[in-house]
Amino acid sequence: MKIDGKTSFLLPIGYCLLISLISSSYSSLEYDYYRESCPQAHHIIRSTLHRIHDQNSTVSPAILRLVFHDCFVQGCDASVLLDNTAFMGSEKDTLPNQSLKGFDHIDLIKSELENVCPGVVSCADILVVAARESVILAGGPFYPVHTGRKDSNRSYPEISYELPSPLDDLSTTIGRFASRGFTEKETVTLLGAHSTGKIRCKFFERRLYKFGGTDQPDPSMDPEFAELLRSICNNTQAQTPASSPSSSPSPSPSPSPSTTSSKTDQEQAMKMDYEGAGSGFGTLYYRGLLQGKGILFVDQQLTAGEETTNWVRQYASDVSMFHRDFAQVMMKLSSTQVLTGPTGEVRTNCREVSTSLCIPTHRLKPSIPALFLRPPSPNTFVSFHFSCPSEPALVSDDSSLTLLKHEQVVIGALVVVIWFEILVSWILVSGFVGF
Ligand code: HEM
Repeated sequence: MKIDGKTSFLLPIGYCLLISLISSSYSSLEYDYYRESCPQAHHIIRSTLHRIHDQNSTVSPAILRLVFHDCFVQGCDASVLLDNTAFMGSEKDTLPNQSLKGFDHIDLIKSELENVCPGVVSCADILVVAARESVILAGGPFYPVHTGRKDSNRSYPEISYELPSPLDDLSTTIGRFASRGFTEKETVTLLGAHSTGKIRCKFFERRLYKFGGTDQPDPSMDPEFAELLRSICNNTQAQTPASSPSSSPSPSPSPSPSTTSSKTDQEQAMKMDYEGAGSGFGTLYYRGLLQGKGILFVDQQLTAGEETTNWVRQYASDVSMFHRDFAQVMMKLSSTQVLTGPTGEVRTNCREVSTSLCIPTHRLKPSIPALFLRPPSPNTFVSFHFSCPSEPALVSDDSSLTLLKHEQVVIGALVVVIWFEILVSWILVSGFVGF
């Protein structure tokens, strides 16, 4: 038996193939994943959401926005729902996420599911299915959502800063979406989500008064529309002194986004469907952009490039084309970098991780299987870690070290088994070639 150049060249390839086989076997979502484990899952999510919506129609835009902020940051893994702990900062506490709402609604849906199928339906699946229902409630299209996502066992506050900003210009926005695999056209389509909900004055007031360091409003804005926005923001200003025209367009820090729903709801804001709900999901948004009536700077920037303006025009004149494309891009967004199989967990409480591994962040190195099964972004590499669900007091340095050692033993055994299998296959193959 000889290891010639060709065979030794094939060995690493075989290894890579094996690894990709392992990862691909965990990377697919399924149609109706819960058909046996929790057949009522979709019905429970839908009916609970509709029940909440009957009382409070702000739930659907809030959840649609929530799924975007979850999926954009290290994939659709419900990491945005985690509260911070002594061991882990949370995405929801970072500046780009501080105006998110809807956490309590997801908690309610989760508790209904836990009553019927405990520990089965992941928070990540709840979020994407509830977002699909939210799109329908807002007058948008139906799209099928495959399920089987698992929840992350950590939050990624550092990556939240990669979320697009309302002040971004077109090339920055396109770059940010391209970094997540979305084309220019898909970026234009996704922003059509700004057909529902409302935008608080603090996110656009600089455009109304002092744009780009001048004393003038944004010249890309229709003057009458700017006047309308000024009147809306001024009218309510007296009731909410916390936000003034000169304040930063970014949300100001608040103690906990999960408890600020009522506060943010009371702040002065412009409704996206300001012509009334009958204008249809998408129609007003794209027509408005062509007339200089985009509310956020980032929205209006879609008319600053040739290709994006072309798509804005097409959607403005053909709403069914927009609905078809929006359905497709939401399916793509909902499948971004998902965790499946053993690469994630099913939380019992969407705000807390369930894993029993409780190791302080600074003690840990990236776990080998996790790195292969889910390529981390460069930013996460240094801080890949497990974290403790709820009771930091239970974690002592000794126990965390023991857990770390166990993990290393399992990883070591796995690597030895894989290499052994490769060696056996190689012997067999070279035997066949020899004869
Ligand atoms: C360039 C990308 C985007 C930026 C900069 C952006 C920014 C914003 C801002 C600043 C608000 C107002 C929040 C508030 O007043 O509390 C908002 C609202 C909203 N965004 Fe976006 N967004 C972007 C893309 C998206 C995408 C892709 C979706 C969904 C697929 C989305 C869905 C929504 C919804 C539904 C609302 C209304 C929320 C509510 O009324 O509770 N956004 N967005």
